[in-house]
Amino acid sequence: MYFTAPRPEETSPVPAPFQPDPAFRADVLQGLSQPQKSVPARWFYDMRGSQLFEAITQVPEYYPTRTEAALLQAHSAAVAERVGAEATVVEFGSGSSIKTRTLLRAMPRATYVPIDICGEFLDEACAALQGLFPALRIVPVEANFMNPVKLPLPQSLPHGEEARPMLGFFPGSTIGNLTPVAAVDLLRSMRETLGEGAHLLIGMDRAKDPARLVAAYDDAGGVTALFNLNLLQRINRELGGSIPVGEFRHLARWNPEAGRIEMHLQARRAIRFEVDGHPFRMEGGETIHTENCHKYLPGEMRVLLAAGGWRETEHWTDPQGDFSLILARADIEQEA
Ligand code: AVJ
Repeated sequence: MYFTAPRPEETSPVPAPFQPDPAFRADVLQGLSQPQKSVPARWFYDMRGSQLFEAITQVPEYYPTRTEAALLQAHSAAVAERVGAEATVVEFGSGSSIKTRTLLRAMPRATYVPIDICGEFLDEACAALQGLFPALRIVPVEANFMNPVKLPLPQSLPHGEEARPMLGFFPGSTIGNLTPVAAVDLLRSMRETLGEGAHLLIGMDRAKDPARLVAAYDDAGGVTALFNLNLLQRINRELGGSIPVGEFRHLARWNPEAGRIEMHLQARRAIRFEVDGHPFRMEGGETIHTENCHKYLPGEMRVLLAAGGWRETEHWTDPQGDFSLILARADIEQEA
């Protein structure tokens, strides 16, 4: 019930030589040239990085995934009731669409629009989902959801037919990777994608004891360290880098001023390396900043959402108050 255009590699018999992603190359060369070196967190997720992230979600210290899963189990029926069981569910960064199954079980006659930057993942995830939900209409969109997305849905409806309610879905506390300013931009662009009157179901991690937060991002089994270090291996693999990965250590620290966990890769000693022919050097102790994970208090979440044009209508949490699942509505005045 869903359609995708054939990709070039499926129509050409000769495999093309591996081409580095120009956006990855530009981000890495630019990020490593700054006084505080950095690489955007979205480059963690190559095949191995995605597998390592899945492994992180299973470690005992990393509570967000299982806490949010329980919240979705408990409240999907209430979401379906409030929004309407035949809504169009638009997921931003759908990946494997595993979490979505819980939501769709409560709305099996929905239309599902997964947006993901990786077309290969998208096809696999859609096929698996269609098997589980035969009555689901699936309309995959390969796009970067950081910008407003033009949804391939009917513009005008047959006479007398009510417009289906829109429900955006953005689980996983992914919004925490953005600075508050960038998060507001994204919320506004989601509002533009979904339209006035739409609903948004979003997961956000809460501020808590820094020791627990640090443990969640520096697990004793070292899975998060492998996830962080894989970024250097990916640079070596895809961009012809000569980074001595063994000379780096994984760092996770709480930044109290910014209210966020930061992940860094710290050079154990002074080193030199090249990426795509460009030379770089680092002092011993110097770091590459790889991720921010902002944590919010419930009131801060409401303010952030409101700044993006969304009014909170439901706010669910777990018994420990570790994580928030929020339903919001795009019905407040937006100034340009
Ligand atoms: C996928 C962005 C929600 O920030 O908790 C987990 C990524 N990084 N451990 C998070 C992550 C290190 C995760 N998000």
